[in-house]
Formats: sequence, structure tokens, C-alpha cells
Amino acid sequence: MSIVEQRTLKSIVKSIWTHALSDLAMFTFPYPVTNAVHRLRGVKIGKHCHISRGVLLDDHNPELIEIGNGVYITYGVKIICHKRDMSYYDPPMDGKSWPFKESKVVLEDDCHIGISTIIMPGVTIGKGAIVGAGSLVTHDIPPYCLAVGSPAKVVKQFTVNV
Ligand SMILES: CC(C)(COP(=O)(O)OP(=O)(O)OC[C@H]1O[C@@H](n2cnc3c(N)ncnc32)[C@H](O)[C@@H]1OP(=O)(O)O)[C@@H](O)C(=O)NCCC(=O)NCCS
Repeated sequence: MSIVEQRTLKSIVKSIWTHALSDLAMFTFPYPVTNAVHRLRGVKIGKHCHISRGVLLDDHNPELIEIGNGVYITYGVKIICHKRDMSYYDPPMDGKSWPFKESKVVLEDDCHIGISTIIMPGVTIGKGAIVGAGSLVTHDIPPYCLAVGSPAKVVKQFTVNV
């Protein structure tokens, strides 16, 4: 996890670039084209991944997102790698000087993320895990399980032969 205290000209230019490509990816299909646009933004994406239209992969730090092979990210999922550092909360606040905490999000091979799920900074979704529609994932999800809800909890552990 890193703390970013203020924006530089370089970070602002980068932000405009990643936002523009993010908007493009939102409306792009089929999957190989969508994946290519996200890769251009800096997202690390493995092979045979399906990233739907309408998916938001962090606008500020797309390079902090690592997606393995065979991952499904369905419509409306949001993956976030930054949030305000609440230890600096001291109103009245100027949004520009309120630092962000940034941390990576990892989606391991073969996981499926249900429609409209939100994945928060610092989370790892384990290999083969399934996250139910509309979940809010605030902590790591272990491999080969089903997790649902807000915050997402494991409700089933699958037995797999690996
Ligand atoms: C989570 C999920 C995988 C479970 O599927 P399932 O095993 O067939 O589950 P069921 O529909 O039999 O429901 C089982 C229980 O989980 C609950 N449940 C199902 N989906 C849920 C969800 N997304 N969040 C919270 N609870 C959920 C049901 O209410 C039910 O609870 P109950 O036993 O108290 O009645 C599925 O509901 C889901 O969300 N899939 C993702 C759908 C999606 O994103 N589709 C897009 C594909 S492109």
C-alpha cells in the first residue's frame, strides 16, 4: 500500500489518458478488443479472460490490477485500487490535498465476478473463486469458494481435484 500526497502534472496527464481509455473500454466489444484497451491502460490481464462492457477498472491506477488466466468479470463490476486516507480527515477539507491510499487488486486464475460487484483496494480473489452478483468485497476471498453479500462472506467451499 502506498500513500499519494499530491497530484503532479505527470499524474494528471496520465489520469486523463487512463480515464479516456476507460470510457472507451466501457463500450467496446468483443472481449479481445476490450481486453486490449484495458491492457493499453496498464491493466495486467492473462489469457482467455472475459471482461464485459460496463466494467470499471480503476481510473487512477489501472496498473495496480492483476488479472490471471480464464477470469470472468461480468457487466457493471467495479474494481478500485485507491481510496482517501482517512487518517488525514480534518474538515474543512480541500479534496485536492486529501491523500489517497493506493493498493493493488489481484484476481487469480479462473475466478468469476458476478454482475455489479465492487472490489475494494488491496483485495485478492483466490483461484477459481466465485463472487455472487452485487457483492461488496472488502477482504481477500480464498480459492475455490463461493462468496456473496456486502461485505462478501464465504458461503460455500468447493472440493476440487487439483
Ligand atoms: C451467488 C450465485 C452463484 C449462487 O447461485 P446458486 O448456488 O444457484 O444459488 P441460489 O439461487 O440457489 O441461492 C442460494 C442462496 O443464496 C442467496 N443468494 C443467491 N445469490 C446471491 C447474491 N448474489 N448475493 C447474496 N445472496 C445470494 C439466495 O437468496 C439463497 O438464499 P437462501 O438459501 O437463504 O434462500 C448466484 O446467485 C449469482 O449471484 N451468480 C452470479 C450471476 C451473474 O452475475 N450473472 C452474470 C453472468 S454473465
